[in-house]
Amino acid sequence: MRSHYCGQLETSLVDQQVTLCGWVNKRRDLGGLIFIDMRDRTGLVQVVFDPDQAALFDTANKLRQEFCIRLQGTVRARPESQVNDTMATGAVEVMADELEILSRSEALPIDFNQHVSEEARLRFRYLDLRRPAMNHNLQFRARVTSAVRRFMDDAGFMDIETPMLTRATPEGARDYLVPSRTHKGKFFALPQSPQLFKQLLMMSGFDRYYQIVKCFRDEDLRADRQPEFTQIDIETSFMSADQVMDVTEQMVRKLFNELLTIDLGDFPRMSWHEAMARFGSDKPDLRNPLELVDVADLLKDVEFKVFAGPANDPKGRVAALKVPGKAADISRKAIDDYTKFVGIYGAKGLAWMKVNDLSAGREGMQSPVLKFIPDAALEGILARTEAADGDIIFFGADDANVVAEAIGALRLKVGEEHGFVSDEWRPLWVVDFPMFEEHDGDLHAIHHPFTAPVGVTPEQLKADPANTLSNAYDMVLNGVEVGGGSVRIHDNAMQQAVFEILGIAKDEAQEKFGFLLEALKYGTPPHAGLAFGLDRLVMLMVGASSIREVIAFPKTTTAACVLTDAPGVANPDALHDLGVAVRVAEDTND
Ligand code: AMO
Ligand code: AMP
Repeated sequence: MRSHYCGQLETSLVDQQVTLCGWVNKRRDLGGLIFIDMRDRTGLVQVVFDPDQAALFDTANKLRQEFCIRLQGTVRARPESQVNDTMATGAVEVMADELEILSRSEALPIDFNQHVSEEARLRFRYLDLRRPAMNHNLQFRARVTSAVRRFMDDAGFMDIETPMLTRATPEGARDYLVPSRTHKGKFFALPQSPQLFKQLLMMSGFDRYYQIVKCFRDEDLRADRQPEFTQIDIETSFMSADQVMDVTEQMVRKLFNELLTIDLGDFPRMSWHEAMARFGSDKPDLRNPLELVDVADLLKDVEFKVFAGPANDPKGRVAALKVPGKAADISRKAIDDYTKFVGIYGAKGLAWMKVNDLSAGREGMQSPVLKFIPDAALEGILARTEAADGDIIFFGADDANVVAEAIGALRLKVGEEHGFVSDEWRPLWVVDFPMFEEHDGDLHAIHHPFTAPVGVTPEQLKADPANTLSNAYDMVLNGVEVGGGSVRIHDNAMQQAVFEILGIAKDEAQEKFGFLLEALKYGTPPHAGLAFGLDRLVMLMVGASSIREVIAFPKTTTAACVLTDAPGVANPDALHDLGVAVRVAEDTND
């Protein structure tokens, strides 16, 4: 139906006849002429209708915004004075000589020139996606997946699909369950990731696997989390952690080079412990120069319990966050707001100190906790934070996890609000994670339970799980975890030891992961892999603030699709066939 796309038209096509298909983006009537901006997926071009062609002009007169049309015309150069530099095709226009209205449009239910709520955008997503910004995001995403496939194919990786109706894969979220009709009372789980299948593929000898694949996780949603999202999933045999990091780093560097002409350089590596100590986060945003400084050792003997308690508790932490030069800008009201903010993360308060005049010693400081800090501790804190006149220092004193979360989040917030965040790309690898973390006395896997520990036998691991490091690695870019992976356990005894430490009883392990334990018995190659969050990578590359901006049909923050009104009530016959009865309990929304 068409000869050219709107966005392709340029001066080299002047005097050519073209046929275009697309939408009326905007119509203007000027000096007896009708002008429209016509749009397709490549962009806009101006079309002119001359009143001398009466029938054509008559049809053009009927055009309204978002009518779908086909037209023929001649490309002509715009006069110098009418060249529009803000439009890619602004040097030309099309003089129409045939127009066909393919489909009319009612007045749109939303006006994209006004602020439109996200709910409304999602409700009419097919219209929202007509907007050039969204169109660009999805086109860019397609270029990313295409470049990923080219890279992976060239590097000898095979694309292999894995099932969607499967068993639970423990990645730390709740499962989406699908009832089975043929096995009444039983459920499939949608995969939280293809983790176990990709390991089985290594056991089958495929050696280098990748897949661009949907994953499903029922968890609390945020800007960078969706219930269904896409991974670039990778697994390799006979490759070390370093080799996996090398090849996946090359892939990301290539994407940035090819699609954005940005050179990310070599990614530095940082241990998990260093990241937690300096940034209070396992995904530090290195564009932000503010850092946490530990001061517990200086405060062990103070009388002030708020500091002395955590300072003397092996699980406690006291950290200072110096914000240089902002003492005057950060008011009492702002401090109150920050105190409330850290409260979200469980902090019981937020002590602070303004450094007004270092040379005046104690007299030059302003702080509600100054009286509790003896001279030696004060000097130690000022020296260690390298404080200068005009700085403000915040303090978090609590359980180490609370301090990391609360002061880590404060670091990001203050950094953002006070212009500390630089405009650059800061990738890194976070490595040397502990195998486990403790919650309420129980150990949980920091990655998934198939991650190999570093340098221990199963017996040694069981003897000291809390202090064992894992062979895992996360790729972080500008404070976003874009990918994570690990060397896997390829030994049955080690896998059993990890299940045991996680409190998964033998028969439960057998019931849930019997197939994996069995497969581990038959010549399992050493293997390692990684999965990228494709949505997050694309979000960063297009400069969006949420992955919803790079997903065609995302869910709302309450995990619903307002376009199709899903989830919906199930058909009673379907439920009957499934042998499922629905009883909605009111108190289960925890
Ligand atoms: P992990 O759970 O770290 O690892 O997931 C890998 C990457 O997927 C992205 N991601 C998400 N993106 C959007 N919405 C979500 N709800 C979501 N959850 C995770 C993140 C994350 O880094 N099987 C392992 C990988 C492996 O070990 O090979 C896994 O799934 O960018
Ligand atoms: P309080 O003795 O609770 O009134 O607290 C005195 C000061 O210490 C106030 O500025 C509090 O905000 C601060 N504070 C209280 N608890 C903590 C904490 N866990 N970490 C840091 N500062 C705190």
